[in-house]
Amino acid sequence: MFSLCISSCSVFFFLNIDFLIVYGLCIWSCVVSLTIEIENIMYKKNACTCLASHAHLTVPSVVLQNSFYLGVIKLHSMPPEKLEIFRSLETWADKNILVHLKPVEKCWQPQDFLPDPKSDAFYDEVKELRQRCKEIPDDYLIVLVGDMITEEALPTYQTILTTLDGVKDETGVSSNPWAVWTRAWSGEENRHGDLLNKYLYLSGRVDMKHIEKTIQYLIGRGMNPQMENNPYLGFIYTAFQERATFISHGNTARLAKAHGDIKLAQICGTIAADEKRHEIAYTKIIDKLFEIDPDETVLAFADMMKKKITMPAHLMFDGQDDNLFEHYSDVAQRLGVYTAKDYADILELLVSKWKVEKLTDLSADGRKAQDYVCNLAKRIRRLDERSQMMRHAKIAQTHRFSWVFNKEVQL
Ligand SMILES: [Fe+2]
Ligand SMILES: [Fe+2]
Repeated sequence: MFSLCISSCSVFFFLNIDFLIVYGLCIWSCVVSLTIEIENIMYKKNACTCLASHAHLTVPSVVLQNSFYLGVIKLHSMPPEKLEIFRSLETWADKNILVHLKPVEKCWQPQDFLPDPKSDAFYDEVKELRQRCKEIPDDYLIVLVGDMITEEALPTYQTILTTLDGVKDETGVSSNPWAVWTRAWSGEENRHGDLLNKYLYLSGRVDMKHIEKTIQYLIGRGMNPQMENNPYLGFIYTAFQERATFISHGNTARLAKAHGDIKLAQICGTIAADEKRHEIAYTKIIDKLFEIDPDETVLAFADMMKKKITMPAHLMFDGQDDNLFEHYSDVAQRLGVYTAKDYADILELLVSKWKVEKLTDLSADGRKAQDYVCNLAKRIRRLDERSQMMRHAKIAQTHRFSWVFNKEVQL
């Protein structure tokens, strides 16, 4: 699912000061060595508010590497009476959402695309793979590695989805359709990082040790999508993200073909097809929520878009580059793998799919939220044009990425 990455693009300089503050604080947390201020968020039972308390603590470096000051994080924002909506939708989800999962026996597996270690031809197949990858440029590899690392942080995404009120997996083996979906979705997603990881390993073109460290750091750090344990926000986020990953894997497929690696193009295209199927399922859930609870749903949509769709790997770190995610995002933006234009396109597509403009009988706040989301894409496009002009005026910058043996890559 969850892939790239433009929250750091320059357009967000205009849109998301808060996000930059978060980044600043992330960097800050990496350099302070002894004392950090930790925000303890405590959930007040049976209330939709959070209490925040501060504590000055001395923390060991292992905690420091995995801790971030992310400000006050809102929790459990869905009013408790809305829980019934998700309970009442279980039969519907069973019939309409689980159909978008593929039976395991019909699913592709990474091995279908990789040299077969039990075959005598294994070494020849690896040689061919390495030959195909020889001419792939480093900037493309940076984007592919970033995508792969994002997919590999899957434990974080499953954890977050199981914190959503009303749809969580209470036992780890729950037969509730929401929980069944999340576990099976995660199983499907698991193949994405697995396949890209093995392919890149065999290519010999990237520094696996640094990549593996980045994955470990990222899983240890988690992510902050600001879903507030609220399934309205959570499913809007996932609908958006699945579309974003469909676009980005689709573009890496297109570029792999242009660089002469048809097999890699097929791999990225196959992953993109999975993301498309996931997008359909998550979009359908929000469609249903718009049908039965339009006011709450449009408010959630506007809220999520105001906070920006934070990209899943925004806390990535390789042990040396405090702005790794921004650098990777810059390369992805320059190659056209995932851009501010894509962000606006996704928003526009969702607004039209969910027929947000046609909603009637909304509250005053609901109408404001409707106006906001319906006009936001235009605003993002205008800001993107300005940031593009600034980008063109800037002298091309380069950056050394540990993932490609510290070689310089244009941002
Ligand atoms: Fe994925
Ligand atoms: Fe997906």
